[in-house]
Amino acid sequence: MGAVSASLDDLPLRADLRGLTPYGAPQAALPVALNVNENTHPVPEDVADDVLDSVARALRDVNRYPDREFTALREGFAKYLGHGLSADQIWAANGSNEVLQHLLQAFAGPGRTAFGFAPTYSMYPLLTRATGATYQAGTRGVDYTLGAADAAAQIEAADPDVVFLCAPNNPTGTPLGLDVIEAVYDAANGIVIVDEAYQEFAPRESRSALTLLPGRERLVVSRTMSKAFAFAGARVGYLAADAAIIDALRLVRLPYHLSALTQAAAGAALRHAPAMLAMVDEIVAQRDRISATLDALGYQPFESWTNFVLFGGVDDPAATWQGLYDRGVLIRDVGLPRSLRVTAGTETESTAFLDALASLGPGGARV
Ligand SMILES: Cc1ncc(COP(=O)(O)O)c(C=O)c1O
Repeated sequence: MGAVSASLDDLPLRADLRGLTPYGAPQAALPVALNVNENTHPVPEDVADDVLDSVARALRDVNRYPDREFTALREGFAKYLGHGLSADQIWAANGSNEVLQHLLQAFAGPGRTAFGFAPTYSMYPLLTRATGATYQAGTRGVDYTLGAADAAAQIEAADPDVVFLCAPNNPTGTPLGLDVIEAVYDAANGIVIVDEAYQEFAPRESRSALTLLPGRERLVVSRTMSKAFAFAGARVGYLAADAAIIDALRLVRLPYHLSALTQAAAGAALRHAPAMLAMVDEIVAQRDRISATLDALGYQPFESWTNFVLFGGVDDPAATWQGLYDRGVLIRDVGLPRSLRVTAGTETESTAFLDALASLGPGGARV
């Protein structure tokens, strides 16, 4: 056999996948990695010990398939979320990406359309197209905000089968009012997914879309353990919705999609929710410090209810990204004009980013 490998063009790939680019946040082992909105604080030692014990116990039975219904974990999520939710209204999968994929497999697919308000989470179009559906991008106002009347009008015109509302929004950090969610739900005939991946970083008094679930059988609220919960490597996402939606997801999931080890690890981490979430206030403080310092440096940070900050006023985003990279700091160029996005890390990491950026001079680096 020769060493020559085929290119995608040589393969009988589905026509609708030709020309697509895979998800590709650069991975690099830099000392300060603030590019994919993780919680950069390690799992507390005593929690890690308990997770390890649970995984070790699960390993003894790993010759058997796991609980296909992951009942104990669903009960754990129902209790954690509150709002009177019960286990039959909960679903979980390997990251909220897989939760979203299950939703799209059940409610999008060939001949159907999913809709998101750009700029928003870059996986929505990729996940949509992978099910054979069409993705349609709506628009936002200045500063990436979205008003109820505008959003509802766009949904009425497009009449999509699935709507994504990222609340607060990635990559901009923008909060989304519950009035917008209500208006979009009323205007839509399809499923409305509120992606609350970053909800734990929103102000304490802000209401979750979970409060809107009663009486809205097409509304879904998705969450993840990857952000505030400091569990990105374990790959666990979940959602709350009407029990009938959960029945629909059983039609598309692979049998035993959540491994026994994942179920054990997630269940143990959930039992320690307060300890796992203990760093949220510190991260929010760093986020606000980053925004204030960026402002003082002459950049334009956008309002953020998340664990990251999008900032404008960057003369040359690619050169500035590279300048930071060369100083050991990895952030994200999300392709928005004159802007970059940085995750709020520990105090030390946040300081390293701010110092490195300041060292590039006003407006950042230029080629
Ligand atoms: C808005 C949003 N939703 C979902 C996800 C997916 O997270 P995970 O699959 O790790 O749960 C992310 C990750 O960055 C995100 O930003």
